[in-house]
Amino acid sequence: MWPFIIFLDILLCVLLKNKDEPKPLPYLNLDTFLDDMNFLLALIAQGPVKTYTHRRLKFLSSKFQVHQMLNEMDELKELKNNPHRDFYNCRKVDTHIHAAACMNHTKEKNLTLKELFAKLKMHPYDLTVDSLDVHAGRQTFQRFDKFNDKYNPVGASELRDLYLKTDNYIDGEYFATIIKEVGADLLEAKYQHAEPRLSIYGRSPDEWDKLSTWFVRNRIYCHNMTWMIQVPRIYDVFRSKNFLPHFGKMLENVFMPVFEATINPQAHPNLSVFLKHITGFDSVDDESKHSGHMFSSKSPKPQEWTMVKNPSYTYYAYYMYANIVVLNSLRKERGMNTFLFRPHCGEAGAITHLMTAFMTADNISHGLNLKKSPVLQYLFFLAQIPIAMSPLSNNSLFLEYAKNPFLDFLQKGLMISLSTDDPMQFHFTKEPLMEEYAIAAQVFKLSTCDMCEVARNSVLQCGISHEEKVKFLGDNYLEEGPMGNDIRKTNVAQIRMAYRYETWCYELNLIAEGLKSGE
Ligand SMILES: *[C@@H]1O[C@H](CO)[C@@H](O)[C@H](O)[C@H]1NC(C)=O
Ligand SMILES: *[C@@H]1O[C@H](CO)[C@@H](O)[C@H](O)[C@H]1NC(C)=O
Ligand SMILES: *[C@@H]1O[C@H](CO)[C@@H](O)[C@H](O)[C@H]1NC(C)=O
Ligand SMILES: *[C@@H]1O[C@H](CO)[C@@H](O)[C@H](O)[C@H]1NC(C)=O
Ligand SMILES: *[C@@H]1O[C@H](CO)[C@@H](O)[C@H](O)[C@H]1NC(C)=O
Ligand SMILES: *[C@@H]1O[C@H](CO)[C@@H](O)[C@H](O)[C@H]1NC(C)=O
Ligand SMILES: [Zn+2]
Repeated sequence: MWPFIIFLDILLCVLLKNKDEPKPLPYLNLDTFLDDMNFLLALIAQGPVKTYTHRRLKFLSSKFQVHQMLNEMDELKELKNNPHRDFYNCRKVDTHIHAAACMNHTKEKNLTLKELFAKLKMHPYDLTVDSLDVHAGRQTFQRFDKFNDKYNPVGASELRDLYLKTDNYIDGEYFATIIKEVGADLLEAKYQHAEPRLSIYGRSPDEWDKLSTWFVRNRIYCHNMTWMIQVPRIYDVFRSKNFLPHFGKMLENVFMPVFEATINPQAHPNLSVFLKHITGFDSVDDESKHSGHMFSSKSPKPQEWTMVKNPSYTYYAYYMYANIVVLNSLRKERGMNTFLFRPHCGEAGAITHLMTAFMTADNISHGLNLKKSPVLQYLFFLAQIPIAMSPLSNNSLFLEYAKNPFLDFLQKGLMISLSTDDPMQFHFTKEPLMEEYAIAAQVFKLSTCDMCEVARNSVLQCGISHEEKVKFLGDNYLEEGPMGNDIRKTNVAQIRMAYRYETWCYELNLIAEGLKSGE
C-alpha cells in the first residue's frame, strides 16, 4: 500500500468531483520498489558479480580498441562519401543546462553585483569570465545557477540561506531578457537545441502560477529550447524555517498544481500553456551531503515526515518518480504531453543514488560514480540508459578533465551525450556546447564519427517531440542498430552502428544464455 498515492487519489477524487470511486492509476507500489532495491543492493555488493561485470567491461574496452584499429579508416571513408553533412551541421542537444528561475514582482531591492559577491563571500576573480561590467547579467545568471546545483566550493549551509533570500531580489524581466538572449544565440547556431531547467522548490503552492505567468508574460518560447523543472532537495531548509509542516506538503506543492491544471486546464490557462513546454523533471542538490536516512519499509510516510532531517536521495527520487508516473497516465488519458524523470545522479555521494536512478529514471545527468561500481556500470550499459556528461563542469585543472570517465564510458558503449551544465561558468565562447565538444575532441582525440555518435545520442536522449526527432535523425530512428541510422542526417558511420549493435546483442545474449544454463 502506498499512503501518499492514496492521499493523492482522494485529492484527485475531490478534484474530479467524482466521489464514488477513485479511479485507480498505475504506479509502482512501495513494497515492490523496496524489494527491488534490496535485491539490487545485494547484487552490487556480491564478489562474483563484481568480478564478472568488471571483466565484461574490460572486454568491451578492448573490443572497441580493436574495432578502432580495424575500422577507423573505413568509418572515415564512409563519412567522407556522405554529402552535405558534417559534424557542425548534425543536430545536437544540450541535454543538461540550468537556468535560474527566482521571480518576484516586487522590485524594492536590487542587489548590486558587488553586494551579491560580498554575500557569497566570493571574489569576482573566482568567476571565469572577467568582463564583469559587460556581462553582469550573465554573471548573476550563472551564480544563481550554481545555487541550484550546490555545485559550489562555498559551504553548503550559507548557500542554502542565500538561495532562499536571493529569490526575492531577482527581477523577473531581467532574467527573461537573459534567457531570450540565450535563445537567440541558439536560433543563430541553428543546429543546436537546449533544455534549460527552471526551479520549483515546493515551498509554497503558488510557485507554479508565478513561474508560468512569468513565462507567458515574457513570452519565453523559443523554437530551440524545451524546458525542464528542477526540484532542489532542500526540504530540511524549509522545514527548519517552518515553511512546511512535513515532507508530504512539499510533494503536494510540487505536484498538486500540475494535477489541477491537468484535470481542469481552463481554470489554469497560464500553467496549461507552460506545461506544454515542459518535458520533464530533474532532482538537484549536492549529492555528497549525507542525509543519514536509509529508505526502508519503516521510513515515515511523506505526511508523517515531520522532522527537520532531509530524506535520502532514494526517498526523494521514489516519490517524485511515483507522482510523475501517476501524473503521466492522467495526462496521457487526456491527450496531453507527458513528463520524463531525468535527475542529477552520480555526480558525488553514495553509489546507491545510481542504483535508485537505474530503477526510476529515464535519463540521468553526470553518472561519474559509475566508475566506482562495475555492476551498475554494466547495468547502465545493458539498459542503455542515457547519461548526459559535462566534463568541463568539473575541470579546475587539465588533469581533472583527462581523468573524467567520459571517454572510457563512450568506448565501452554506454549511451553518453555531452552537455554544458553551467554554461558561462565553465565556458568562454558564445557557443558553449560546441566548446564542450571541441575540447572533448582535442583532449580525448575523438574522431568525427565519435563526435557525431555523441550528438546523435543527445538527440535521442532529449525531450523534443517524436516528429522533430524524425526530422533530425531520420524516419527509422526508433529501430535498433544500423537500421535506425540515417547517415545523411546523423553523419554516424553504419560500420560504427553495426559494431555497437552487435556488441550490445552479444552481451545481452551472454546473460540470456547464463539464465538458461542456470535453471
Ligand atoms: C537592477 O540592476 C540591473 C543591473 O544593474 C539593472 O539593469 C536594472 O535596471 C535594475 N533594476 C532596478 C529595478 O533597479
Ligand atoms: C518579494 O520579495 C519581498 C522581499 O524582498 C517579499 O516581502 C515578498 O513577499 C516577495 N513577493 C513574493 C510574491 O514572493
Ligand atoms: C532551431 O530553430 C530553427 C528555426 O526555427 C529551426 O529551423 C531549427 O531546426 C532548430 N534547430 C534545432 C536543433 O532545434
Ligand atoms: C496569465 O498571465 C498573464 C500575463 O501574460 C497575467 O496577466 C494573468 O494574470 C495570468 N493569469 C493568471 C490566471 O494567473
Ligand atoms: C570533481 O570531481 C571530483 C571527483 O570526481 C570530486 O571529488 C570533486 O568534488 C568534483 N568537484 C566539484 C567542484 O564538484
Ligand atoms: C531517455 O529519454 C528519452 C526522451 O527524452 C526517452 O525516449 C528514452 O526512452 C529515455 N531512455 C530510457 C532508457 O528510458
Ligand atoms: Zn547540473
